[in-house]
Amino acid sequence: MDIKKLQHGEWSSSFAFILAATGSAVGLGNIWKFPYITGENGGGAFVIVYLLCVGLMGVPIMMAEIMMGHRGKQNPVDTMNTLLKEAGADKSWHYLGWMGIVAGFLILSYYSVIAGWALAYVVKAFTGSFSGSGSAEIKELFDNFIASPVQLIFWHTLFMLATMLIVARGINNGLEKAVRFLMPGLFVLLILLVGYAMTMTSYAQGIYFLFNPDFSKLTFNSVLTAMGHAFFTLSLGMGAIMVYGSYLPSDVSIAKTSILIAVADTVVALLAGIIVFPIVFSNGLHPDSGPGLIFQTLPIAFGNMTGGWLFGILFFVMLVFAALSSSISLIEPAVAWLVENQRMSREKACIWAGLTAWLLGFATIFSFNIGSGIKIFDRNFFQLLDYLTANLMLPIGGFFIAVFAGWIMQHQHSEQELKMPDRQSYRIWKFLVCYVSPAAVFLIFLHVVGVL
Ligand code: TRP
Repeated sequence: MDIKKLQHGEWSSSFAFILAATGSAVGLGNIWKFPYITGENGGGAFVIVYLLCVGLMGVPIMMAEIMMGHRGKQNPVDTMNTLLKEAGADKSWHYLGWMGIVAGFLILSYYSVIAGWALAYVVKAFTGSFSGSGSAEIKELFDNFIASPVQLIFWHTLFMLATMLIVARGINNGLEKAVRFLMPGLFVLLILLVGYAMTMTSYAQGIYFLFNPDFSKLTFNSVLTAMGHAFFTLSLGMGAIMVYGSYLPSDVSIAKTSILIAVADTVVALLAGIIVFPIVFSNGLHPDSGPGLIFQTLPIAFGNMTGGWLFGILFFVMLVFAALSSSISLIEPAVAWLVENQRMSREKACIWAGLTAWLLGFATIFSFNIGSGIKIFDRNFFQLLDYLTANLMLPIGGFFIAVFAGWIMQHQHSEQELKMPDRQSYRIWKFLVCYVSPAAVFLIFLHVVGVL
């Protein structure tokens, strides 16, 4: 047994890896974020750009990340160190690993706040707060909730503690067990809610909004948001999937797994959209209501459908678990670095990393209430963090991962790790990471800064 296995263990099977990686991908990004950014960016045309980004950048870059993690077998920083030495590349490539760790902290800090909302909504569902309510009452409930820093701090703290506990228990006991039951349960509930959405008067209008592209509504900032979200929702660009890849047994097909994860992730996001928009239009709500969108729509469904009390509780419980299986992957790169590089115990590493992200989370909490007036570049702190991480850091990270895997690593090494069924598929992947993905990121950035 090598040192790595002694320190962390390894996924017990390829199925366990697929579950964990899917658990990392499927989270608040799909159910909370996808509907509200689609609503803010005009619907169908945005969805098409997002789907293109998932296919042309998401899948090849996910393969690159898993492959690099599997070859380097350490946290992102040391994996990059090992790979750059092997390839004889410049030392500065290891900053890529660092940027990933920093991005992970920044994302986790607000992710945990929003997951805290979901946690609070489990209790609200349980106590019957939604029962018989119309859109106005549900909105008021939400507005009052986020206006209270004390409540947000409480739920944020609880969620962060749960994340730390799971990660502290290590790969086999914590991460793996947590995701085994959650994903299927979430899927079943989503299908049930689609059934409810189909009974709504504005079902057709909701579907039309989601799938009918109106390209006149698409700005370059929307294109950037769509690309950033493709990275965010697949957990790419910061080393999370790289670390997961480092725990991967050798007999897994990286290509098949990546496609499977991307498809599952996309299906969950689209289902969330199919549920949310009919409720939005049937209740006279606005699709561009922002981060509160699902908290202002879904409770209407739960408050008025038969069995809604039970389904409401189940739904928010599942959402919390989906968020947990993602948050553990946001903190894992930092924890792996502390354990492997600083020789800290896993427990201690979790405490330090969790505490840091927890403190950072206060900035997000206050941007919904007492600090909502503070604007930097016209954005409150939460919006700034979201923009910085999802729209900038992840695509930049993804760009360099693609360039490293395509241009810096030796052919034999990437080919040996990917174990493609035939030469042709390897060539397609290589073409995508060498040219298509980096060029797409680059062009979109150029447009946004107004050079083109
Ligand atoms: N993909 C998760 C979601 O959609 C969030 C997430 C987990 C993530 N790990 C990540 C985002 C790493 C970017 C990088 O909710």
